[in-house]
Amino acid sequence: MDLYVISGAAGMTGNELSRKLLASGNLVIGFDNFFASSVSTIEDLLDSERFFFHEYDINKKEDMRCLEQEVLQRKTGGRLIYVNCAAVVHTEHFYHVSRTFETNVLGMKSFLDQAVSLQADIFINCSTSEVYSMNSWKEQGVRESDYITLAHAEHSQRTSYAAGKLLTEFFMKDAVAEKRIKGCSVRFANVYSKNELYPKHIIPYILNQLKEGGSVQLLENSRVNRRTFLHNEDSCQAVLALIQSEDALDGSVYNVATNEEISIISLVKLCAKMAGIENPEITFSGYRESDPERRILNTDKIRERTGWKPAVSLEQGIRMCLEEMKF
Ligand SMILES: NC(=O)c1ccc[n+]([C@@H]2O[C@H](COP(=O)([O-])OP(=O)(O)OC[C@H]3O[C@@H](n4cnc5c(N)ncnc54)[C@H](O)[C@@H]3O)[C@@H](O)[C@H]2O)c1
Repeated sequence: MDLYVISGAAGMTGNELSRKLLASGNLVIGFDNFFASSVSTIEDLLDSERFFFHEYDINKKEDMRCLEQEVLQRKTGGRLIYVNCAAVVHTEHFYHVSRTFETNVLGMKSFLDQAVSLQADIFINCSTSEVYSMNSWKEQGVRESDYITLAHAEHSQRTSYAAGKLLTEFFMKDAVAEKRIKGCSVRFANVYSKNELYPKHIIPYILNQLKEGGSVQLLENSRVNRRTFLHNEDSCQAVLALIQSEDALDGSVYNVATNEEISIISLVKLCAKMAGIENPEITFSGYRESDPERRILNTDKIRERTGWKPAVSLEQGIRMCLEEMKF
């Protein structure tokens, strides 16, 4: 039996990961400060004797000291594995530079330091495809080894999120290169789930708007933007696949995405069709700077090294959301 320590355990990737790990017989210590989630996403897990959940903040030293004590107490004969899912993620918070830096960079660094000091076996660092910034697509998808062109403070504060995540990839690489721990970083692209507290990611947002009134208001960017979408079932399967593939835990970076690209306008039409709404009204307002028109990741690396591939199609994912919303 392995012991997992998961930050952001109530979030989209954290809650599904905890569920899967408990189902396969592991111990999980999870925490979240409910910045962007609520206890409802993990309610079904709270009765488990192998799930230990706390309302902790990754930035609070006292909380992290308590966590450390508990990890020492509960350490099993199996592996000790840290997964850092806590982050300031939602789109509007990209622009809160200080908060983003505190949680996403300093929080990650101290969580990694804790894992190293407790001699954890593995650390998985959740990074983001936002690091590709203005070079987010090319034929066959952008690869982990591609050079990137970052929008910066001259253009938009948005990239503070990507710049912070990029820095965490260096911390990860360094820790593995110095043989302090094994692990890697993952660059997820557009994760969504059926039970987001705030319907801010585009799929829950569209479904929510359709449910409320049938009309969907999009940013001007959405007239041209196209995206792929990754269900949280698949994002956490990717993390599990990496953990089971020791050779992959070399400190490097893995793209995790689907290749089912769709324009945002077609996405609204698809959601509406599946919800039984014909010809949804679409309006446009507002513009987001430094928003790439497309984001296509090449996922050969994780597929070749772990055998992972996405399992939830876009239509299946939308259906799951509709069922959860009792549309
Ligand atoms: N959702 C996406 O599209 C996406 C894309 C790329 C990368 N990622 C990365 O994947 C990881 C998991 O994200 P997710 O999709 O599950 O997002 P999420 O927002 O659902 O989960 C993040 C969780 O972290 C918690 N959190 C925030 N600040 C915290 C703090 N100070 N202390 C403790 N918990 C805190 C939030 O309350 C939330 O539950 C994150 O590192 C994120 O940056 C997400």
